[in-house]
Amino acid sequence: MKSLPTIDFGHTSFDSAFERRDVYGIKTDLERSAKRRLNIGVVGCGGVAQAKWLPAIRYLQTRSEPVDIAGFVDPDAGAAEKVARLYGARRYPSLADLLAGQRLDLVMVLAPDREHAPIARQAIAAGVATLVEKPLARSLADASALADFAEERAILLGSVANKRFSPPYALAKLLIDNGCLKTAPSVFEGKFTLGYPYVDILESGTIHLLDIALWCMGPVARVSATGVVSADGRLESAIAMLNFQSGAIGSIVTSAAALSFKPWERVEIIGRNAMLTVDDQFELTLADDECGPSRTWRPVIPNTLMFDESFGGYPGLLENMFDAIRGLVPLGATGRDGVSAVALVAAIRQSIERSEWVSLHQASGGPRIISS
Ligand SMILES: NC(=O)c1ccc[n+]([C@@H]2O[C@H](COP(=O)([O-])OP(=O)(O)OC[C@H]3O[C@@H](n4cnc5c(N)ncnc54)[C@H](O)[C@@H]3O)[C@@H](O)[C@H]2O)c1
Repeated sequence: MKSLPTIDFGHTSFDSAFERRDVYGIKTDLERSAKRRLNIGVVGCGGVAQAKWLPAIRYLQTRSEPVDIAGFVDPDAGAAEKVARLYGARRYPSLADLLAGQRLDLVMVLAPDREHAPIARQAIAAGVATLVEKPLARSLADASALADFAEERAILLGSVANKRFSPPYALAKLLIDNGCLKTAPSVFEGKFTLGYPYVDILESGTIHLLDIALWCMGPVARVSATGVVSADGRLESAIAMLNFQSGAIGSIVTSAAALSFKPWERVEIIGRNAMLTVDDQFELTLADDECGPSRTWRPVIPNTLMFDESFGGYPGLLENMFDAIRGLVPLGATGRDGVSAVALVAAIRQSIERSEWVSLHQASGGPRIISS
């Protein structure tokens, strides 16, 4: 292994706290404030917009990120007027009106799943970079068509995969890339549970874990899954076995029959006589020596610099999207990544329905699902 990488684990950087005497990281950052100023349109102003994305934008603005919210669109007048008042931007009756009234650099699509593809198409057709909440679309065909549409027009399409920017997962990926598992990862084991009866377990929750599996392990070649369907016809629990193209293997256990608030998620990634564990998206452990100590990273909860949305990965994902629009960095979670996660959900569903292995073929136009 090379050196252990460092990552902001929910607290301020050493440099900021000790050298610049800026414990909160709020003094003007000249390098950041000199970046090209971006104008954002927000479409969908409900739960995730109000609780996560808008506070994350405020957090970044407070830390010198030159971005402005240009306007909000939501058919729910109460929600749109509330955020317009709180964030000091206008409410527009439709995305068409917002696009006509403002020069936008980014449209954030935070509306319900079924609206993702049509709203994103409208923004992309207008030539504006677009960030779409997960799942990119409800069907693999719609998700692939959206990614194609963006590529044909050379417009940046980002998909929300916020866990990639959450400190324990971001550090786990850096450690893997640094060779801490001694080989390429050979086994992935993931568990995701919740207790809400009203969401689709795969599309609404487990898709985050599937994205982490794809990000850390590479593409999936085939899937065999089994599940329990509850009385209302919803998939309640599922277990999926995965063969990755690399030759690695994996398993996913997910259940909506569990609890929502505790314990909810665990990932184990094995290389060769070395293992990384991320527990509840909070604590990362590297065990790489039979007799020596394991290494553990976790945040300090009463730390005044801890920000829930940072740990969720929301500001990190936005920061990456903004810099990708400016042409400074590659996009960390692309539309194609969103397509791959939707394809894996579809393959798991098909395998459960037909009780058979399902292959994921990486065709030029995106993944295709083939029964085997
Ligand atoms: N990344 C995450 O962890 C995460 C968490 C929660 C939700 N989500 C995703 O975010 C999306 C929104 O979820 P939510 O929990 O905020 O839902 P929500 O129902 O609370 O909010 C959705 C909002 O979109 C509005 N809306 C409906 N149709 C619209 C349209 N055509 N144009 C503009 N706005 C429209 C609704 O009026 C509502 O205010 C979903 O796709 C969901 O899967 C992601």
